[in-house]
Amino acid sequence: MIREVWGLFFSPCGNVEKLIRAMAGAAGETLGVPVRFGDMTLPTGRTDRALGPEALAFVGTPVYAGRVPNKLAPYIAAHIRGTGPAVPVVCFGNRSFDNALAELADILGKNGFTVTAAAAAVGEHAFTRALAADRPTAADLAQAADFARAAAERLREGEIPALAPGAIPGDPAAPYYTPLGRDGRPAAFLRAVPVLDEKECIRCGVCASVCPMGSVDRLDPGRMNGICIKCHACVRKCPMQARSFDDPAFLSHRAMLEENYARPAEPLYIL
Ligand SMILES: Cc1cc2nc3c(=O)[nH]c(=O)nc-3n(C[C@H](O)[C@H](O)[C@H](O)COP(=O)(O)O)c2cc1C
Ligand code: SF4
Ligand code: SF4
Repeated sequence: MIREVWGLFFSPCGNVEKLIRAMAGAAGETLGVPVRFGDMTLPTGRTDRALGPEALAFVGTPVYAGRVPNKLAPYIAAHIRGTGPAVPVVCFGNRSFDNALAELADILGKNGFTVTAAAAAVGEHAFTRALAADRPTAADLAQAADFARAAAERLREGEIPALAPGAIPGDPAAPYYTPLGRDGRPAAFLRAVPVLDEKECIRCGVCASVCPMGSVDRLDPGRMNGICIKCHACVRKCPMQARSFDDPAFLSHRAMLEENYARPAEPLYIL
């Protein structure tokens, strides 16, 4: 018997959050039970969670380099446990989700959950508006909600159906996707950080408050006190458009994506 629905998400640019809210909300409505959310985006939100057998959990992350973001996966593996049903959800930016869904499902299964359904949805690429602009759209969210209703409906009788082995495409142990440049060669931008246009910056502090790595200096936003995962939260949420990436390898990769992955990608819903 499911008595509560949880929506847990890591979502620097907001797409995963929209999907998880739509899915968990629809599942809660279907089952007539309360819905709770846990935002894992900021370091302060990454707390320990142990869900019981009567909780249905939707757990969402973006796809980074074809996998679960590598700075987040160890946190989920160590701190998100449960003994009830879970639905891993990944959101990808029009290229491919590669092995991310298989990896997230694998982590949740190892942490005690029964993976009862899984989803790979499409969201505007954090790097560029040219890929999957404005997705998830209202129609995408409606489709996600329908899927969640169907997953919840099956849990009414008390049984928890588990996805068959192999139902989720991908290999949880596969290597990360290697970003390529326009020349087809690996584009190395691991050390790239956003640059600040000092003339435009009004020192509002938004960038420091949204950085999932807590890396942007609060008093001097041009200064980095830690690593950058290229999530683009600070770039997109800066009210003055004062932050951008100018690293040539990054720009070459972004151009390659725009040239090759503009077609609309399809989501995958597995029940
Ligand atoms: C560092 C980074 C790597 C990414 N790698 C991929 C990828 O391998 N495949 C893909 O289709 N989209 C990729 N994306 C796009 C994101 O998955 C997409 O923008 C997602 O909607 C971001 O979720 P958010 O809005 O919740 O932050 C990447 C984005 C970032 C920031
Ligand atoms: S969000 Fe933009 S304007 Fe505000 S402090 Fe950061 S860079 Fe400056
Ligand atoms: S500094 Fe890097 S990690 Fe932090 S919000 Fe900006 S893009 Fe994301």
